[in-house]
Amino acid sequence: MSQLPGKGVSLWMDTTSDLGAPSLSGDQRADVVIVGAGITGLTAAALLGAEGVGVVVLEAGTVGGGVTGHTTAKVTALHGLVYDELRSKFGPQGARVYAEANRAALERIAAFVADEKIECGWRRRTAYTYVRSSARRPQIEDEVSAAREAGLPTRLVAKTPLPFPVAAAVALDDQAELHARAYLLGLAGLVQRNGGQIFEHSPVLGASWRGRPSVRTAEGSVQAGHVVVATLMPMLDRGLFFSRLTAKRSYCLSMTVRGTPPEGMFISAEEPTRSVRSQAPVPGGPDEELLIVGGEGHTTGEETATGERYRRLEHFAREHFDVRRITHRWSAHDLMPADGLPYVGPITPLGSRILTAAGYRKWGLTNGTAAAMILTDRILGRENPWAARLDSNRLTPRRSARGVAAEVAKDARHLIGDRFKRSGTVEDLAPGQGGLVRIEGKLAAAYREPGGRLHAVSCVCTHLGCRVAFNEAERSWDCPCHGSRFAVDGTVLQGPAVQPLAQRLPSDA
Ligand code: FES
Repeated sequence: MSQLPGKGVSLWMDTTSDLGAPSLSGDQRADVVIVGAGITGLTAAALLGAEGVGVVVLEAGTVGGGVTGHTTAKVTALHGLVYDELRSKFGPQGARVYAEANRAALERIAAFVADEKIECGWRRRTAYTYVRSSARRPQIEDEVSAAREAGLPTRLVAKTPLPFPVAAAVALDDQAELHARAYLLGLAGLVQRNGGQIFEHSPVLGASWRGRPSVRTAEGSVQAGHVVVATLMPMLDRGLFFSRLTAKRSYCLSMTVRGTPPEGMFISAEEPTRSVRSQAPVPGGPDEELLIVGGEGHTTGEETATGERYRRLEHFAREHFDVRRITHRWSAHDLMPADGLPYVGPITPLGSRILTAAGYRKWGLTNGTAAAMILTDRILGRENPWAARLDSNRLTPRRSARGVAAEVAKDARHLIGDRFKRSGTVEDLAPGQGGLVRIEGKLAAAYREPGGRLHAVSCVCTHLGCRVAFNEAERSWDCPCHGSRFAVDGTVLQGPAVQPLAQRLPSDA
């Protein structure tokens, strides 16, 4: 694989320091234990802590190091073309709930930034969803109408600050951009000042559901009145959320350009999706405005030559902007809900103490904040105007027989068909290359580091047994069935899998 553009780490992660919290050791009690220190977990912890609730946050890695640290960091209620879709599925009231929740979430973030003086490059910007083909203009008109009916003061425009013409765009003013991880670290500080405890490098390995629930890590446990599972794909997945969510990967580049990047946040409604926004100079990064370009989404695990995705984004950027230097590249992992709305509430219909939220359809900063607001109200016994519509255990509109058949066929293809994919031997693997190989008669997922060191693990996903595929650009093993991801040493990067891939090194290695 030839050299990829930029440094292979997200702009947000590369320009912030870790919180440096300890790992959990010993047994603790709390009012609420929150699993996951991303946007949902930390917002819930901050809101609950401000109301005097004792919270413990357990993070498998570092604060903001998961999906929130790999976002495009747009804070907006304009989510591509969503309101016309939601209006047709759930009626005007359903679209209105989504709009109100996301608009309130944006203002909740604005209030945290202002009240806590969080230095995260917060800037109000206009958000745009555009099309370049005039044949798609009616879709934009429908979206403007649906979003307005949902309560958002959108405008139909024929021009944007982008350096190329558009056929039409939806515009929504007073949205915002920020530095995603700097914001989360600010929230983490607030949680700690309010007496909450945060533990990093403390992956949860299991839970007890009886009576007062508890969760367990390798070296400790926390018993609490409520558990909030805020791990993107809910771990402890008794609600079978994996069957209602589709995992997607997408890609981002940040860069310096000659001239000033266009003011605003933009996303195309046509394929291939292109997301564009500017970014204020970042402490620890280049001392100038940056341009962020994203897109190239695909279903997790269904593509191995992912490096090509970055190259296409680079090509788009150079075609339209005078790029001086690509500084960073990163990829995001998102979950798309089956019916278009996030799931927020109890993890199963049978209990109310273990809560979760998932399915933010690539707009996690506002949807995740709204989810935290709903969960906070629920824990405190308050009514919430969005909770019923977004209920995690709602009956989702029936998918078409063809859609269900396609899903079953896809899983069967990966469960059975992938077993017959061609495989080589470890000797076939060049430095920097990964693939399925036979080791002592058994199929294994093997990767050879540029320096020559060999990693070999089981190629059977520990979630439900599908065969993982190599992700060339991220050097990970990705499962095409429900989106679990594993590092080359088998460690879980993203669930629903909880257990690592078993080691399969040759006996003489
Ligand atoms: Fe479900 Fe791999 S994520 S089988």
